[in-house]
Amino acid sequence: MAEPRDHYTIAQFSDIHCGDIRFDEALMEETIAEINSARPDLIVVAGDLTAGGYREQFEEAKRYIGMLDGPEKVIVAGNHDCRNVGFLHFEELIGPRFRTVELDFRVCCEGTTGDVQERVKILALDSNKPDLNDGEIGRDHYTWIRDTFPRREDYKIFILHHHLVSIPGTGRERNVVWDSGDVLEKLRDADVDLVMHGHRHVPYNWPLANMLIVSSGTCSTWRTRGYTQPSYNIIEVWPEIVVITTKVPGGEVASRDHFHRRPRPAVTKG
Ligand SMILES: [Fe+2]
Ligand SMILES: [Fe+2]
Repeated sequence: MAEPRDHYTIAQFSDIHCGDIRFDEALMEETIAEINSARPDLIVVAGDLTAGGYREQFEEAKRYIGMLDGPEKVIVAGNHDCRNVGFLHFEELIGPRFRTVELDFRVCCEGTTGDVQERVKILALDSNKPDLNDGEIGRDHYTWIRDTFPRREDYKIFILHHHLVSIPGTGRERNVVWDSGDVLEKLRDADVDLVMHGHRHVPYNWPLANMLIVSSGTCSTWRTRGYTQPSYNIIEVWPEIVVITTKVPGGEVASRDHFHRRPRPAVTKG
């Protein structure tokens, strides 16, 4: 069991689009250096690793992801990764397209004796429909969502590439997940705390029904929207709050937001 600490840290980035004409190597390397200096406990790559799902683009993305230091990395495929049957390269070079992960932390609460043992439960899946930009979770996965998150006291994270709720400032407001309403209900019923996604290339935090839905922008390309800058997210999970910092690689903190966590039942003291 790890040493107790007052919070744990998640780094989130997406839409690196290796092979794209607007890919910027300096932005990618700056993102990697800054995330490594943040010493995250979990690194989430929310899809679109490539421009077109080609093998050499996955090899380049894998090389960059390999430069990240972190005890746990969770990576999902994006719609660009599934073009040209690229999901086969994803499975071989990056990892499974559907997975669950469990992490345990000891968290100190100020003003209390003993540590809180917190289990983080993660479900990450491929929300793509090959050669389409749209996404779908599908009814076949609803039972899996319910069964992955049985304990109310866990911190529950759902990771996909597509957005479940429209993101402002992105232009066309479409390409949402086809069954987003049903999926949001399943996630709410399962007391999911945090939904992480990419796809729209614009960072945004949506608190919704006791969930926090967090979009990451593109960290390493100039496939941006309007005046939006490339960015990535650092998420700190504290016993009572979640702090989300959106950072421009090599530049400014674009935003820092604080959110209350979902009320939870009595916790186990270590
Ligand atoms: Fe993208
Ligand atoms: Fe995408």
